[in-house]
Amino acid sequence: MIVLKLGGSVITEKDRPETLDGPALDRAADAVADADEDLVVVHGAGSFGHHYAEKHGTSTTEGTHDPDAVLDIHGAMTTLNRFVISRLRARDVPALPVHPLSAASRDDGGRLSLPTEQVATMVGEGFVPVLHGDMIAHEDEGTTVLSGDEVVTRVAAALDADRVGVCSTVPGVLDADGDVVDTVEAFADVADAVGESEATDVSGGMAGKVRELLALSQPASVFDLDGLDAFLAGEAPGTTIHGD
Ligand code: IPE
Repeated sequence: MIVLKLGGSVITEKDRPETLDGPALDRAADAVADADEDLVVVHGAGSFGHHYAEKHGTSTTEGTHDPDAVLDIHGAMTTLNRFVISRLRARDVPALPVHPLSAASRDDGGRLSLPTEQVATMVGEGFVPVLHGDMIAHEDEGTTVLSGDEVVTRVAAALDADRVGVCSTVPGVLDADGDVVDTVEAFADVADAVGESEATDVSGGMAGKVRELLALSQPASVFDLDGLDAFLAGEAPGTTIHGD
């Protein structure tokens, strides 16, 4: 089983609020429709979540108690989720939505609880669950952002996925010269190159991605849309991240 993240900046126009990148989403949906293995898809926010999260001053650690803020962000994410599902259904992929706000939470230490039994059962019954980054309840914070990357690592670990793929706007993790790094085994390998998060990304950018993926026991690949078919065919395009 493969857990595949479609980065928000891949499938949306990240600089224009709530704008889909239709051709990119079509390419991703074509690749998913051609895949032979069981799949769980997780998508990020791109222009459907990040600007609302910024506007309302919330992130994975900074919370909000404002229900309208939660509904703005969650609403934009479920709109994007419907677009993703409908493009997959148009290609006969048996895709079903799973919304983290309804089930996930963090405790006062920031520890995430994300039930995955329904996801496992859906996969067992031949469906392709499609989860997404979201807002979730957070003890003492109200609600905080749950990134798609956190969903990916949780689902991959809980369902004992064989491989994890993160389809990004860059062809892999890039070194200081802009070349793709083949493998990453420790954050120190790339710390200088990946730096900190981008201003418009409330959940950590490439640095956060690498940290999340290093925590997994499964190998994870980071690649761009050009590498998606190869990844789904069992190859290792872009950067492979091996955790412990
Ligand atoms: C962010 O998810 C979720 C929200 C802002 C609600 P991600 O951090 O996974 O999104 P992308 O892939 O970077 O756009």
